[in-house]
Amino acid sequence: MIELLGVSVAYDGAPRPAVRDVSLAIPAGEFVALVGPSGSGKTSLLKTINRLIAPTSGVIRIEDRDAAEFPTHELRRRIGYVFQGVGLFPHMSVRENIAITPSLLGWPREQIVARVDAVFDLIALPRDYLDRAPAALSGGERQRVAVARALAAEPRIVIMDEPFGALDPVTRDALGQAYRALHERMGLTTVMVTHDTQEAALLADRIVVLRDGAVVADDTPRAMLSGAHPEATGLFDTPRRQAAAIADLAR
Ligand SMILES: Nc1ncnc2c1ncn2[C@@H]1O[C@H](COP(=O)(O)OP(=O)(O)OP(=O)(O)O)[C@@H](O)[C@H]1O
Ligand SMILES: [Mg+2]
Repeated sequence: MIELLGVSVAYDGAPRPAVRDVSLAIPAGEFVALVGPSGSGKTSLLKTINRLIAPTSGVIRIEDRDAAEFPTHELRRRIGYVFQGVGLFPHMSVRENIAITPSLLGWPREQIVARVDAVFDLIALPRDYLDRAPAALSGGERQRVAVARALAAEPRIVIMDEPFGALDPVTRDALGQAYRALHERMGLTTVMVTHDTQEAALLADRIVVLRDGAVVADDTPRAMLSGAHPEATGLFDTPRRQAAAIADLAR
């Protein structure tokens, strides 16, 4: 369970807040897609959830506890984060990158090795990639490693910032489906930022639309696509039109 109560973020010197009075309750097990234009506050909002930034006002509760009270290592353990633009450590191998959080948490070595193996299997890359440096991977391969890294410490909550952006459509779809299956199997709570409203509609249980730092619509993919939210209709016109055009071509 993630609860945001009246959360605002105002960066020093910025003319207006990046996040404005956002309240959301995300029950355990839910998969939420966070969409909205560039600069609408998506990344800022995600960062408040694992306290990479402290909100200027408002409260964030994780599993019924104020996030401000969690020690950093506890938050890291519970919340896996896939950063926008990947953010792998360049001087570490793929293996070391995936192992970083369990290592920092002091897991026993055998347990780390087993866990790295298990999460690496999920992303379907050849095993010899484990010993490569991130620079020796393609952008999409790095994104897959970032997903594995976020899952390594067995988090209950996963927050992902454009995790599949650099992938070709086929890999993107496959990894999205694989992640969704994992979300079910492990009973995760997931918040995923995406610019792709079709991906949001196909993967998420619920879509939250941000504009200028505020929530302007919050509903199921079905409701969004049916036009129930005039503020969000523009965002869903494209996938609806494309789906109709493809269905027509495939007839
Ligand atoms: N560290 C910072 N200092 C000052 N302003 C910031 C900082 N980080 C972000 N902003 C501003 O806050 C607003 C929201 O930024 P944020 O990164 O949350 O947007 P976003 O929705 O993730 O955009 P994108 O889709 O481009 O990633 C923007 O106007 C941005 O310029
Ligand atoms: Mg962003």
